[in-house]
Amino acid sequence: MILKDKKILLGVSSSVAIYKSLEIIRLLKKEEAEVFVVMTKNAKKLISPLLFSALSGKPTFWEMFSNEQRYPHLELVKDISLFLIAPATANIISKIANGIADDLLTTSVLSCKAPIVIAPAMNVNMWEKEIIQRNLDSLRKNGFFIIEPEEGELGCGEKGKGRMADPQKILNFVKALLFTERKKIKFVITGGATESSIDKIRIITNRASGLLSVLLAEVCYQLGYQVTLILGRSEYYPTLPIKVIRAFTNKEMLEEIKKEIDENTCLIMNAAPCDYKVKETFPFKVKNGELELKLVRDIDILKELSDKKLLCKIGFSCDVKEELKEGERKLKEKALSLCVINPSETIGSENIKATLLFEDGKKKELPLMAKKDFAFKLIEEVELWLKEKHPIPQN
Ligand SMILES: Cc1cc2nc3c(=O)[nH]c(=O)nc-3n(C[C@H](O)[C@H](O)[C@H](O)COP(=O)(O)O)c2cc1C
Repeated sequence: MILKDKKILLGVSSSVAIYKSLEIIRLLKKEEAEVFVVMTKNAKKLISPLLFSALSGKPTFWEMFSNEQRYPHLELVKDISLFLIAPATANIISKIANGIADDLLTTSVLSCKAPIVIAPAMNVNMWEKEIIQRNLDSLRKNGFFIIEPEEGELGCGEKGKGRMADPQKILNFVKALLFTERKKIKFVITGGATESSIDKIRIITNRASGLLSVLLAEVCYQLGYQVTLILGRSEYYPTLPIKVIRAFTNKEMLEEIKKEIDENTCLIMNAAPCDYKVKETFPFKVKNGELELKLVRDIDILKELSDKKLLCKIGFSCDVKEELKEGERKLKEKALSLCVINPSETIGSENIKATLLFEDGKKKELPLMAKKDFAFKLIEEVELWLKEKHPIPQN
């Protein structure tokens, strides 16, 4: 049970998504976490604190000034592993972003030294208000972890973004955040397509979009890891302040990877490097007549890195037939810790149906899911693998 010995404070505010916080308690308890609830006074109008106490097995708190505790806002956050605020109303988000401490929940936030995770829930119009987005940005910049709400049907009946993330996803986020001493681990993620020049103007390349690599880098960043994204040709670019190095050929990509990695690195080779390059590049623009190109094998980046000591090495395989066999071959030949087999339909799509092959022979078939969900799932799998196979590096 992964959260054994973890003490989690759950902050609950008055959103229609409040019923989901009951499921969050159930999931946290299933992982053997110790859970305490602090509510806003408005949240008490929607659900009785009694129900939270019954599920958590602990008293529920909301009074700032009481005779039972001298400094409830200090005592509540003492020794906690994590403070999760779910659901977080627009009001709570804005108060926290501005350092307001006018009730027990917000005052506890200011007194808390543990990581604080916020799962917003609100109507789409509230979510889209510039002031709310500004407040969320300010929270991200100040080290709060925000679990993005989802799009879909909202509690109020409208459609759009603002529905609180699924409790299971919130639990996964919490587990991932508590697992490892993240700052010591660096994720180097490659993404996009590489290219090879035909002449001064033209190139050959492939259809990889780079979307998944950007999402993976953003998940790692949000979880507190050091991250470098080495990005080839891509329509996408991170919106978070992540170190990005551009590398457009296999040779450039290999050189940049070598500069970034060490024994505490998890390398995720999500890029689609060219298998072939043009043997002779024309130093001008070829204009007349037929053009015959001779293609030769380009550098095999993973193979070139086979002697490098890394914490883990993850590769992607994308084939049109015998996908599983090809994935198994790649796993062995390139000495990968994990190979993600993704069907060719994944390229350029926002969804992915992947199979994970682990070096110990374990295989996990995942359902079709949005790449943004897969990015989180993959990092979670990497963390589980690291926890099982490798002790986390010490200073
Ligand atoms: C039934 C109901 C559902 C609500 N759902 C939300 C919501 O999902 N998100 C939100 O930001 N506000 C929601 N509100 C409005 C908040 O409850 C209101 O802004 C309140 O002042 C917030 O107080 P608190 O943040 O201290 O809990 C809802 C109100 C009601 C009556």
